[in-house]
Amino acid sequence: MTLSQLIRLNMARFQAKTWNTKTMSSKSAKSCFSKSMKPMKQFKRPRISKISVVGAGQVGTAISAMLLLRNLTKNLVILDINYELAQAEALDFQHASAFLNDARVVPCGDSTNSKNSDVVIITAGARPSGKDRSRLAAMQKTVEILKKAVPKLVELSPDATFIIISNPADVMTYAVQRITNLPKHRCFTTGCHLDTVRFRNLIANRLRLPPSQVHGYVIGEHGASAVPVWSSVSIAGIRLNDVVKNLACGDDPENWAKINKQVTTGGLAVAKTKGYTNWAIALTCADIVQAMSGGKGKIACVGTDMKGLSGIQDNVVLSLPCLVTSGGISHVFELPLTDVEQSKLMASANILLEAQCSLSI
Ligand SMILES: NC(=O)c1ccc[n+]([C@@H]2O[C@H](COP(=O)([O-])OP(=O)(O)OC[C@H]3O[C@@H](n4cnc5c(N)ncnc54)[C@H](O)[C@@H]3O)[C@@H](O)[C@H]2O)c1
Repeated sequence: MTLSQLIRLNMARFQAKTWNTKTMSSKSAKSCFSKSMKPMKQFKRPRISKISVVGAGQVGTAISAMLLLRNLTKNLVILDINYELAQAEALDFQHASAFLNDARVVPCGDSTNSKNSDVVIITAGARPSGKDRSRLAAMQKTVEILKKAVPKLVELSPDATFIIISNPADVMTYAVQRITNLPKHRCFTTGCHLDTVRFRNLIANRLRLPPSQVHGYVIGEHGASAVPVWSSVSIAGIRLNDVVKNLACGDDPENWAKINKQVTTGGLAVAKTKGYTNWAIALTCADIVQAMSGGKGKIACVGTDMKGLSGIQDNVVLSLPCLVTSGGISHVFELPLTDVEQSKLMASANILLEAQCSLSI
């Protein structure tokens, strides 16, 4: 065989290989798995350049710090009704701009500087107070704040993705969706993404493993009725449920159910001493913005109107695992649940529905 014949033969083999690979990947795209992945909306944002953080309190300032430190924006607006506070926080960051990739940090008291933001993060609101620090109790006060602040923000940045942090975060997201008519894929809350990382951290501590290597989700309300999905917990592909007898149920010989309570009262344990929580939510929010920025996307338990998914029949905002990409939520995953987990999810949805119905919007 001549050299040129040999080259032609090798090329033909290479092309056949390439073609086979393509065929395989197009077949796998039609997998039955796609039935568990409900499309919400594909909306690509070329890049995130401008972010506005509304509320310069403990949470808003911590979020601003994380966004700047992670280089997630070069143009940050800090907005507070207390303009002097916004100005002081912005100046404090601006002084260190050289350590923050030369980011520009601008204060704002009346929304104007937020014009053309790509992402708007809402933290303005009343903090839960009183003995039980109920998020639902602070609800109506925060709705009044949102009714005043949000329409102008949407008018100035009609294409922005809105991330709602103000508590009760699920109900406030519903309120913002109702006040503004923003589509549900780009108006959502970090919701149970925070509860999920708390859950994984508690399991990891018990098993003496790195928290990032534990998988599993918390769904439903970001609050007291959140549902830790024990049947979804896995480490190195081993389902905890398969190896631990009566995991967090029945006689629960290893007492895993203790973690359920720790997940839902995690914030309270911190706020009891500090009066607020801020670092964990700030990192949670930055993680979501990073998922939107990097082009890779991420599956996280965030909350939006989940009507029609996982047995939810009403327009209720709650968290389920979602694929978060540049424009917001592109897909929602219907997690297989045990009967007990499904009924807990329904109970959580009913609590939220009741809270939504009690709002005066
Ligand atoms: N979703 C979560 O996981 C999570 C976690 C922690 C805290 N939170 C919530 O975040 C919210 C903020 O908490 P915080 O500790 O920062 O409270 P904070 O009181 O320190 O700050 C709230 C800020 O909002 C500002 N504000 C009020 N009305 C405004 C308006 N119309 N426009 C602009 N700014 C306005 C206030 O001046 C204040 O600076 C609370 O609702 C809290 O419960 C949510």
